Amino acid sequence: MCGIVGYIGYEQAGSFLLDGLEKLEYRGYDSAGVCLNDGSELVVKKAKGKLKVLKELTQNGKLLAGTVGIGHTRWATHGEPSDVNAHPHLSKSGRFAVVHNGIIENYQQLKDYLTSKGIVFRSMTDTEVIAQLIEYYYKGDLVDTVIKVLEKLEGSYALGVISQENPDEIIAVRKESPLIIGLGDKENYIASDVTAILTKTRNILRLENNEIAILKRDGVKIIDTDKEEVRKEIETVEWDVSAAEKGGYEHFMFKEIMEQPKAVKDTISPRIRNGRVVLDEIKLTDEQLKSFTKVNILACGSAYHVGVVAKYIFEKMLRIPVEVDLASEFRYRDPIINDKVLTIVISQSGETADTKEAMKEAQRRGSHVISIVNVVGSAIAVESNDVIYTWAGPEIAVATTKAYSTQLAVIYLMALYFGDKLGTIVPDEYKALVGELEKLPERIEKILEHKEKIQYLASKYFNSKDVFFIGRNIDYALSLEGSLKLKEISYIHSEAYAAGELKHGTISLIEKGTPVIALVTHEELIGKIVSNIEEVKTRGAEVICIACDSHPEIESHGQTIFIPKSCDMLLPSLAVIPLQLFAYYVSSLKGCDIDKPRNLAKSVTVE
Ligand code: G6P
Repeated sequence: MCGIVGYIGYEQAGSFLLDGLEKLEYRGYDSAGVCLNDGSELVVKKAKGKLKVLKELTQNGKLLAGTVGIGHTRWATHGEPSDVNAHPHLSKSGRFAVVHNGIIENYQQLKDYLTSKGIVFRSMTDTEVIAQLIEYYYKGDLVDTVIKVLEKLEGSYALGVISQENPDEIIAVRKESPLIIGLGDKENYIASDVTAILTKTRNILRLENNEIAILKRDGVKIIDTDKEEVRKEIETVEWDVSAAEKGGYEHFMFKEIMEQPKAVKDTISPRIRNGRVVLDEIKLTDEQLKSFTKVNILACGSAYHVGVVAKYIFEKMLRIPVEVDLASEFRYRDPIINDKVLTIVISQSGETADTKEAMKEAQRRGSHVISIVNVVGSAIAVESNDVIYTWAGPEIAVATTKAYSTQLAVIYLMALYFGDKLGTIVPDEYKALVGELEKLPERIEKILEHKEKIQYLASKYFNSKDVFFIGRNIDYALSLEGSLKLKEISYIHSEAYAAGELKHGTISLIEKGTPVIALVTHEELIGKIVSNIEEVKTRGAEVICIACDSHPEIESHGQTIFIPKSCDMLLPSLAVIPLQLFAYYVSSLKGCDIDKPRNLAKSVTVE
């Protein structure tokens, strides 16, 4: 969480800093700030609230002078969102400024030490100790000082540092939190993620843990903490500039919903060759594959919901037990896991702290990890044993849509690939499933073409106090995602329930007019879920069904959104579309800040 940018060049830095922060706002948006060296001193402008407040304060950057500067958009950890807690933070005399993403775990100890030396802190943040430490240890060489300060820090950080005395350099460093260096023509950049610099350059360097970048106008030098130079390959970013822009849509979320046919196609197509699923990314031998006795899936948020879908699919198709864990729980429960367990880690950003640490825990215990990641070169992608990328392109809206869909697509590919190798899928079934998989993008497209009915239902229920989602089997897994989508962006209370479980308590919450969204796609259980629908209707619920067009009779049980029929395994990819659209339209009607819902951030790099 938190976004960092920095610029050094011959142009005025202000406009790039604000523009870059706008691209990174998905990482946190409770306050923002910039600091520029105006030639004689460091000038800080920062403000509580979204970036637009800072933009107003600086007249869109017009009031910012200087050709070197750093900026930050914050998701508060230590210290409430406020002007004073916003970054950049200055040292006591104002000669050093720091932006930070991550958490300094021993900050209190360091703060106590500095306080005992007479340093008075202005903010409640952990970050301020870094700025104060730099000044405390500074003896004329900023690089040496930063290296000394790093020795004192415990925790995770990506840092950008500038100083009053050195208007010709930015120092950047990272440990665990992401940071990239953008290489321009007589100008260079730092950023938490490539989206911030795409309009400026596609040439980047990825900093590894404990590497220090010294950015000047005409070049960048990377060193390690022993001051040895580190030579790095320049990477070219493939992402399209327009992918990080709204492109005429009112919200990123809507744009990303509409991009799903392409994202799913881009993820699936290159991996189906001559009717066979080819996953060159997986380095496991057939023997290794056959030796696994269990699959373990680790993820957070919506990625975890993909894991729940995967459990139903893998157990049915591969006949292997699957355990799905919330990464934050897995880490601390002394899990039973060894080299006979295959671990699958799912993460859009590839940097979610809990997911990353859970992955390392699994690796420490001998498990082989395959990650499913969207951001190329991110920590999880690099540190897992094998990585299968989702080709969703940059996802900006906090509530995930196209990343979720592409993660599901990878699960289908894996199920087919493993099923073939393990011999649990017969050739006819394999062929039929590959054929259906290839049709997914056009079927998603078809649902998107008929979104008006969902818009109408949203207009009927957007004032509801509670909304329940029910389903059985794989439909239950999907209902978890439908419910999360709705609550995170519309602030309507919502719960997802395994339909058969409702009567063990939650049904007491159903009253006249309560909307219940019932997923009725799983062929074998239609009769069972219909009974559960009737149970809630009897208690006053108003039911919306999501069902396949092969079952027109479902309409007699509730207002129904029909999706094209496909095989059970693939239906979550179709049924999730109306759920995403429902959440989107409800939030839009309520006037919510859809792309940046309150209290959330897209990239969760703290525990
Ligand atoms: C945040 C996002 C979710 C996402 C979750 C896990 O909560 O808002 O959309 O599912 O983090 O993120 P990851 O990047 O690991 O998929």
